[in-house]
Amino acid sequence: MLIRDFIPGEETELRRVFMSSVHTLARDFYTEEQLNAWASAACDQQKWASKIIAMRPFVATVKGQIAGYADLQASGYIDHFFVSGDFSGQGIGSALMQHLHEIAARRGLLQLSAQVSLSAESFFIKHRFLVNERQTALVMGTPLANARMSKALLADNSFKPTPLCGTA
Ligand SMILES: CC(C)(COP(=O)(O)OP(=O)(O)OC[C@H]1O[C@@H](n2cnc3c(N)ncnc32)[C@H](O)[C@@H]1OP(=O)(O)O)[C@@H](O)C(=O)NCCC(=O)NCCS
Repeated sequence: MLIRDFIPGEETELRRVFMSSVHTLARDFYTEEQLNAWASAACDQQKWASKIIAMRPFVATVKGQIAGYADLQASGYIDHFFVSGDFSGQGIGSALMQHLHEIAARRGLLQLSAQVSLSAESFFIKHRFLVNERQTALVMGTPLANARMSKALLADNSFKPTPLCGTA
């Protein structure tokens, strides 16, 4: 598996991953109507492409095929985090999460946050996020339960304290 930056032109492939993820991995948590509102087959391709390009996600590939993707905004907010149904349970999500943590440390971020679906809540808890608030989001007019979650990151402690006088 390889994790790398998104390359413009991959928007349609990411849409495939998103559709597969929602309709396969979230189906035990939401109704058909909710899944269709969240990941509609009738998608404005241009709007989707613009969103993905602005989001600048990281993609996980297996043998050259995109298996999942996730982004990390400057504020520490994770907007999208999706693994394709064909690749779930193979450590792709954990590898992407690890990558986001490494990027966050490099950027000196002190917090990660996300609006996490019911289908991913256990996964985020496993990665030590806490639920801040349960909420109902309106997606295309359809209510969907999710949770605002966050994780405090350790401040960069790579600095070396000045040795006390006389001890160096
Ligand atoms: C949640 C998600 C990203 C996990 O991706 P994944 O590649 O399957 O996760 P991994 O294989 O790295 O699993 C890591 C661990 O989390 C556990 N896990 C993964 N998904 C889980 C779930 N839905 N519920 C409980 N545990 C889960 C796995 O069992 C595994 O545990 P282990 O390390 O003890 O074996 C993926 O299932 C997904 O895309 N879900 C649907 C879309 C979604 O809700 N996205 C989030 C939007 S906020």
